[in-house]
Amino acid sequence: MFKLRADKSLSLQGGIKVPGDKSISHRSIILGSLAVGKTCVNGLLESEDVLHTVQAMRKFGAIIEKIGEQKWNIHGRGVSGLDEPESPLYLGNSGTGVRLLMGVAASHPFNTFFFGDKSLSKRPMKRVSTPLKMMGADFISRADGCLPLVCIGPRHILPIQYELPVASAQVKSAILIAALGAPGETTIIEPQPTRDHTELMLQQFGAKIRTNIIKHSGREVTITGQPELLAQTIDIPSDPSSVAFPAVAALIIPNSSVKIKNVCANPLRFGLFEVLLKMGAKINVVYHDQENPEKIADITIESSRLKGIEVDSEIAPRMIDEYPILAVAAAFAEGTTVMHGLKELRVKESDRLSAIAKGLTLCGIKVEETIDSLTVYGTGGTVMGGTLIEANMDHRIAMAFLVLGIASEQPVEIDDAATIETSFPHFFELMSGIGAKLTKVPSHQETPSQ
Ligand code: S3P
Repeated sequence: MFKLRADKSLSLQGGIKVPGDKSISHRSIILGSLAVGKTCVNGLLESEDVLHTVQAMRKFGAIIEKIGEQKWNIHGRGVSGLDEPESPLYLGNSGTGVRLLMGVAASHPFNTFFFGDKSLSKRPMKRVSTPLKMMGADFISRADGCLPLVCIGPRHILPIQYELPVASAQVKSAILIAALGAPGETTIIEPQPTRDHTELMLQQFGAKIRTNIIKHSGREVTITGQPELLAQTIDIPSDPSSVAFPAVAALIIPNSSVKIKNVCANPLRFGLFEVLLKMGAKINVVYHDQENPEKIADITIESSRLKGIEVDSEIAPRMIDEYPILAVAAAFAEGTTVMHGLKELRVKESDRLSAIAKGLTLCGIKVEETIDSLTVYGTGGTVMGGTLIEANMDHRIAMAFLVLGIASEQPVEIDDAATIETSFPHFFELMSGIGAKLTKVPSHQETPSQ
């Protein structure tokens, strides 16, 4: 646990390489372990969350080795070919890790124990265990369905047809992964499309999977079970959810220009950039035409005068992790930004909706919070800051308020910046390298007045 302080920074300049995409990293480790042969992964995000998934898949019997900087080899065991873990799987802070691995465990006829940190132990798991129970798995958990839990895998897992009650790529992916072990076709209906990395990667590994667009832009995803997945080489682009922090920092700090190469530009992850462009951001996106199942782009961001807008709930699944940093951009914009459809933010690493509202208020910004919306009254450029923000074990709250702090009048401190390691290793060095004034605060030092 350590404190970080953000002081007003003059300008951000330079080109940076942001670490690999977290969602794609988890999936490459899991699907590589379920494939036959040696999968080579380049650009793996070596953050705490992903390393917990690596450890878990090793406990299931996959051989996973680091062979260089962000380069890993996975010797897979084939679909339904894993061993029963001898000890409980610890997933730390990672919702993606535990939920996708519940799908792995559900399609194997043995018992798998899961536990996590204090934040993960409060997050809802019934959304995953409910469809997996319909497929034949059983779960014993705390009364509210939360961790710790044990998955009792059935002898034969069954295919299902399931309509997602919440827009969640984690739930969709857990079902798709479990369905690999089931005979016949499993179909998932998602009323609002969510990130499709699992679908794209399963296709790359040779599974038979198809997606149909249904009414009101929803999707129907059908997978044929018991495929032979064949080992692949996976090149992981930078995480757009991490890119969001230096990108917004460059927008709100005058005289800044930052270039970020090789960013995952999957349209189902790019909602923040759509919104920022509508707010008047100077962002230039140049798409690569290289071969990769994922869209990739180089992005240049320049300081901009942003204006407040209405952000419809329809876009929420395409930028679900980006609301903390969008709210920071909105605080510096001219006029009011209203964001709708934010209910899911209440069950992330922390209750993000209330954390954003509370933090912005402490920094001198007027906000209104409802059960599923947030209104931010932008100042047009001058934000006071001068406070201590509690990260509550939430990496994106920590990073969002550090970005606010480097653009605000008074310094902002984060009580526990260690949480940033879950998704964005070297955030401190990378941001400092382009001119952000971030300092590690010795624990005995006084915090800024509130
Ligand atoms: C993720 C899906 C999202 C997102 C999370 C990563 C994934 O969660 O918030 O950070 O990799 O599938 P939900 O599925 O709960 O929306």
